[in-house]
Amino acid sequence: MKRVAILGSTGSIGQSALAVVDAHAGQLSVVALAAGENAALLAEQIARYRPRVAAVATEAARTELVLRAGRGATTILPSGQDGLMAAATHPDVDIVLCASSGTASLEAALAAIEAGKVLALANKEVLVMAGALMIDAARRKGVALLPVDSEHNAIHQCLCGRDTRDVTRLILTASGGPFRALDRTALARVTPEDALRHPTWVMGRKIAIDSATLMNKGLEVIEARWLFDLPPHAIDVVVHPQSIVHSMVEFRDGSILAQLGVTDMRLPIQYAFSYPERWAAPVPPLDLVRAGALEFSAPDRDRFPCLGLAYRALEHGGAWPTVLNAANEVAVDAFLTRRIGFCQIPEVIVRALEAADHGLGAPVSLSDVRAADRWARAFTTETLGTLPSS
Ligand SMILES: NC(=O)c1ccc[n+]([C@@H]2O[C@H](COP(=O)([O-])OP(=O)(O)OC[C@H]3O[C@@H](n4cnc5c(N)ncnc54)[C@H](OP(=O)(O)O)[C@@H]3O)[C@@H](O)[C@H]2O)c1
Repeated sequence: MKRVAILGSTGSIGQSALAVVDAHAGQLSVVALAAGENAALLAEQIARYRPRVAAVATEAARTELVLRAGRGATTILPSGQDGLMAAATHPDVDIVLCASSGTASLEAALAAIEAGKVLALANKEVLVMAGALMIDAARRKGVALLPVDSEHNAIHQCLCGRDTRDVTRLILTASGGPFRALDRTALARVTPEDALRHPTWVMGRKIAIDSATLMNKGLEVIEARWLFDLPPHAIDVVVHPQSIVHSMVEFRDGSILAQLGVTDMRLPIQYAFSYPERWAAPVPPLDLVRAGALEFSAPDRDRFPCLGLAYRALEHGGAWPTVLNAANEVAVDAFLTRRIGFCQIPEVIVRALEAADHGLGAPVSLSDVRAADRWARAFTTETLGTLPSS
């Protein structure tokens, strides 16, 4: 029996993770659940899975959760960081699934590693903002970092314990998002509703916008750099609209190994939970004949500059990846709330990156990372106020 903590249990990934628990009730048990503000759904999850502990982000949500969950066997932890950390480091937990959105779970993820828990990582943002710290901690503690992002999960499967010295290239696939075929004029007019309609994956709002701008792929390039310890020039992106090939690895003899599967996040989540075993899938297998033709093309970095910005941030190093991530989060929120247009997202991020060189050094500690993150959010928020209305 593997005992899991799910950070972000009320979200898209969190609910898929609980579906995996349902499918493997004899092998998985839920010890800790943590969410943001959706106390109603978390209370339902508590009633069903009876975790030892549960946590929410705010005091208002905690008050509501205490009312809804009643006096059960579950301890409702303090709200905010303390609760999240306690959920992630509970002594009975073996695996922590980090699937909250944003960057709130960075400290909890680091604490889980320090406590020797296996970390199943969906939340790429924490690795983008503090990759060096997380990888150093995982190495020092001998803790496995198992990628849940389908692309990195695919690469993990292709590598299958092989030495990355034989790898010449990681090839991340990208669906291309809902605007793959739009020209610049049309892109400038897209609405949040258009952007939230992803062609192949069901997911939360922030990652849906990142997929439309291709920033999601950019963040994944940075994530891959840390997870697999390869330089930026050895990490490539191809557009593959069918999302059947989840990613590939090219070896020095020219062979390319690919991982294929249906587009369902339960599969990579289950892989992380079951690793190194493989369990029966909770979904029907891929029908290659029905899937039909598989297409691959180069991403258009002119129409989708966010991908190039992520490469620039990775190559530049220092505080840039942290700043890129924070500025993107603020810009995406501004787009979702109609304060800026779609094409202004990369414009805002460029300004933050370029300004970051004047004063921000390379973060070497968690407090440096948080300081860079705070600076970038404040700078980007201020920049938004200076833009012409979209
Ligand atoms: N969805 C996908 O297909 C997919 C694929 C690969 C990677 N990912 C990554 O997985 C992460 C989650 O994505 P998602 O699509 O599941 O997002 P989502 O549906 O928006 O869910 C986000 C989850 O995080 C929780 N949360 C927000 N702020 C929190 C805080 N301060 N403390 C604790 N929990 C907090 C939310 O709680 P409330 O709802 O209760 O507020 C919710 O449970 C993201 O980093 C994303 O990039 C997602």
